[in-house]
Amino acid sequence: MNDVTGMPQTAVVLGGGSEIARAVLVALARHRLRRVVLTGPTAASLEATAAAAAHAGVEAEVVVHDLTDVAGIDALVRQAGDRLGTIDLVLVAAGRLGTARLDELDATTVAALAGANFAGPAAALVAFAKALAAQGGGRLVVLSSAAGYRVRKANFVYGAAKAGLDGLAQGLRDALEGTGVGVTIVRPGFVRSRMTSGMAPAPMASDPEDVAAAVVAGIERRAEVVWVPSTLGPVLFALRLLPSSLWRRLPG
Ligand SMILES: NC(=O)c1ccc[n+]([C@@H]2O[C@H](COP(=O)([O-])OP(=O)(O)OC[C@H]3O[C@@H](n4cnc5c(N)ncnc54)[C@H](OP(=O)(O)O)[C@@H]3O)[C@@H](O)[C@H]2O)c1
Repeated sequence: MNDVTGMPQTAVVLGGGSEIARAVLVALARHRLRRVVLTGPTAASLEATAAAAAHAGVEAEVVVHDLTDVAGIDALVRQAGDRLGTIDLVLVAAGRLGTARLDELDATTVAALAGANFAGPAAALVAFAKALAAQGGGRLVVLSSAAGYRVRKANFVYGAAKAGLDGLAQGLRDALEGTGVGVTIVRPGFVRSRMTSGMAPAPMASDPEDVAAAVVAGIERRAEVVWVPSTLGPVLFALRLLPSSLWRRLPG
């Protein structure tokens, strides 16, 4: 069970092969995390996270599952519940940056990016939220993105999907009021991870460990929104007021 500080002993990670998720699990292991279920489409990246978790003293189980297989989500929730008993934390870390080049985008690519970044995670988030409400509590931590705060041409399909997921998480948080289930929305800027490898870091870039520290602190104080770095929120709030004629000329 979550202890009095709200720190989880058990967790499910959707997108369990994520480098950010891996850093979050290692950070949570220094608190009270003991058991985790890792799900994602690729066994190799899940096993890498399971090894990092085991090294940090967390027992990990791997379930290969692609969130765009929405018909399998209810079974995934049951499987995670069977393995963990009480689910203290669900971390949504699934995502694909993909492309925003018009010459590379066709209907299939756009739908796949929308599925990996919005439809799949959204379906799973609601299914796990209902399970957590039924058990009487828990926390959902959703890795949204600064890219969804005001969508840019550089990653507009990804950014639009993240905007959708962020909005869903905000509404879900309100819908869960009184159930004991909390929702923390995390909005990192550029993070130096596998997702951005080969790209020049944007201003205010961070590392997975920075996101992990911010997530742990956010869980501790039951934060509704966490920006990484924390100064990014006010900066983007101001930038959101730029007229679109200037916004579309910003680099990157
Ligand atoms: N890196 C950044 O700059 C940045 C900034 C803001 C927000 N974020 C968000 O932070 C989260 C973690 O990203 P990261 O930087 O750690 O990148 P990452 O290492 O590439 O992790 C993304 C994970 O999502 C998994 N995934 C992709 N499609 C999926 C699907 N359909 N079903 C289930 N899992 C799926 C990937 O699986 P595979 O292992 O098979 O690839 C991968 O393990 C993502 O939601 C991302 O959008 C990242």
